[in-house]
Amino acid sequence: MRKPAKEDKFSFGLWTVGWTGTDPFGGDSRPALDPWVYTEKLAELGAWGITFHDNDVFAFDASDAERAERVGKVKEAADANGLTIEMVTTNTFSHPIFKDGGFTNNDRSIRRFGLQKILRNVDLAAEVGATTFVMWGGREGTEYDSSKDLNAAFERYKEGLDTVAGYIKEKGYDLKIGLEPKPNEPRGDIFLPTIGHALGIIAELDNGDIVGLNPETGHEQMAGLNYTHGLAQALNAGKLFHIDLNGQAGPRYDQDKCFGHGDLASAFFTVDLLVNGFSNGGPRYEGPIHFDYKPSRTEGLEGVWESAAANMEMYLMLAEKAKAFRADPRTQEIMEAASVPELAEPTVAEGESLDDVRAEKYDVAALAAREYHYVELYQQAMRHLIG
Ligand code: GCO
Ligand code: MN
Ligand code: MN
Repeated sequence: MRKPAKEDKFSFGLWTVGWTGTDPFGGDSRPALDPWVYTEKLAELGAWGITFHDNDVFAFDASDAERAERVGKVKEAADANGLTIEMVTTNTFSHPIFKDGGFTNNDRSIRRFGLQKILRNVDLAAEVGATTFVMWGGREGTEYDSSKDLNAAFERYKEGLDTVAGYIKEKGYDLKIGLEPKPNEPRGDIFLPTIGHALGIIAELDNGDIVGLNPETGHEQMAGLNYTHGLAQALNAGKLFHIDLNGQAGPRYDQDKCFGHGDLASAFFTVDLLVNGFSNGGPRYEGPIHFDYKPSRTEGLEGVWESAAANMEMYLMLAEKAKAFRADPRTQEIMEAASVPELAEPTVAEGESLDDVRAEKYDVAALAAREYHYVELYQQAMRHLIG
């Protein structure tokens, strides 16, 4: 397999390789390095970009001078190694002040404090040249349904999103917001649990034109959903602004494994969509191929770099297979037989009257008995994947 190159647009969160292995049952299993060290190493492995939360770079209580110094060092390391800082996001989940969330906290002062932290980070995102601002409301939610006026919570969520989006527009920043859905963890139930929920709230915003999605593979799968379908609906809505690729084995805790190390067949079809697009054309995702995973706690620093490389290698391997799958004339034949192209034809033709549809005689028995060859088409994909 060829080495990752800049044109692959692979990018990583500094918190991914930077995760020191802490979990609810144990402390760090590896040392923390400085963010600029991770930056250099990611460039060496072939990444194109990096992303970070404010507090991946400087501490929650950093002074203005410390903040500027540490951001400067990361920016320098990125520039020196030809890396783009493509996305910035805010940590509104680690500090205990956010234990009941930021935007949807019952405490108004905490909501205002959260807004202050986020707005400051929007300025930082613009300053370092990021074009996406991800908002993962990991602490926006509840454990107990009695905790909140849920209607008020959604009103405050919308107010918060509209305020941030409005500020971006007012400043004229070249930034779009990517909402990241997740069903649970760290809260018992997180608001905006799926791509569909996020699309629903975006449609109600005043400044929703610059608000879209940053869907994560494992998060949709934790909810038992099909990630590729979710990407497709976001694309169809013109809202797929960014992606977080990783691996997850079914609905359980957030495993954040390497991409493809969960449901491999699903990962294949995700890559098929990303590299080949919809089979009948349509909107394409052109953004960064961003990995949001956690090197397993068993891994030392060697394992950290092996796992970072594994994400990119997996994507490249799947991309090659997916291209071969689509280019195979046999695939095209089966797609024809399955009427895949026909789904792109409007059900009622332009200018046609509904009377035509209603008057038409349908051979119900023949239509009910038709073959689709979907199993053969899937098997054809598997031939390319593992044959
Ligand atoms: C998770 C989330 C986070 C977010 C990140 C962006 O661990 O469940 O994926 O990693 O993507 O915090 O704000
Ligand atoms: Mn996750
Ligand atoms: Mn994520």
